[in-house]
Amino acid sequence: MKNLTIGLFGFGVVGEGIYQVLKDKPGLKTTVKKVCIRDINKDRNAPAHIFTDQPAELLFDPDINVIVELIDDAEAALPIVKAAMEQGKSVVSANKKMIAENHAELIELQQTFDISFLYEAAVCGSIPIIRNLEEYFDNDLLNYVCGIVNGSTNYILSKMQTEHLDYQVALEEAQKNGFAESDPTLDVEGIDAAFKLSIIALHAFGELVNPYQIPREGISQLQTEDIESATALEKKVKLIARAQHHDGELELSIKPELVGDDCILSEVNNEYNGVLLGSSLADEQFLYGKGAGRYPTASAVLSDISALRYGYRYEYRKFNRVNSVPSLVSIP
Ligand code: HSE
Repeated sequence: MKNLTIGLFGFGVVGEGIYQVLKDKPGLKTTVKKVCIRDINKDRNAPAHIFTDQPAELLFDPDINVIVELIDDAEAALPIVKAAMEQGKSVVSANKKMIAENHAELIELQQTFDISFLYEAAVCGSIPIIRNLEEYFDNDLLNYVCGIVNGSTNYILSKMQTEHLDYQVALEEAQKNGFAESDPTLDVEGIDAAFKLSIIALHAFGELVNPYQIPREGISQLQTEDIESATALEKKVKLIARAQHHDGELELSIKPELVGDDCILSEVNNEYNGVLLGSSLADEQFLYGKGAGRYPTASAVLSDISALRYGYRYEYRKFNRVNSVPSLVSIP
């Protein structure tokens, strides 16, 4: 088992949670040496000497072997993650936008610099979906992955349907609870779900998909009457992300759908996420858990950090199979 010395970028709700857990659990043999933040003068619940606003102090520190990137800005995160990999440091990130927009380049960098790049927290919060797709479903038996992958929209829809809350009030509650993105348009227009679905498509089916090309419809246009009509039909309205093989083609979509009580997704409420996995032999399986919020996200980040202690990395076997060009055999 490796000892891990972490350089942490970001000290928001998740970053601070990770710092406190690692400090209280010396048995994990993982210490946070330095934390890089934007505003060095803000009061924090940790000793002042660990904070810096200079990324280089973490990126070029030879003692630091892992960078945990938890900042709320995909554009700022990318150069940090790339520099960390170039310095031979493993990286844990929860930044779905940065990953979905730059997946091909990030896969190449981790192979070139022979490091691990883990991001379980980027998709469905606490649900271990990526590692399941990588390890358990490391075969060609999966036919579809579909479900609820955004906690904020599910929270809004649940509150509108069960408590008759107004859309705007429900959205404000989702923001107050720390479920929504700083720009909630990403949630309500299904863009966040598209980032997650493109990451799922790579690990489930080996296909690199541009998240902005996924056909997408959000929930901002839904009217109270739509919700009431669904209730009259004894159905729930859910924002469903779908990746499905059809005639050899992978079809992807994000859109609100009516879900009846014959489908377990109708039981997934509030900030919970739920994912159905359809496979040729096992038929259908279901993963369920909290998809947003401080502790669920921190739990997935922590799981990635623990996995680094035994050198775990994603192998992208399906992607490598889909993209491998058979080498020409020369005939003597
Ligand atoms: N805004 C995201 C959501 C956070 O609501 O699902 C977790 O990725």
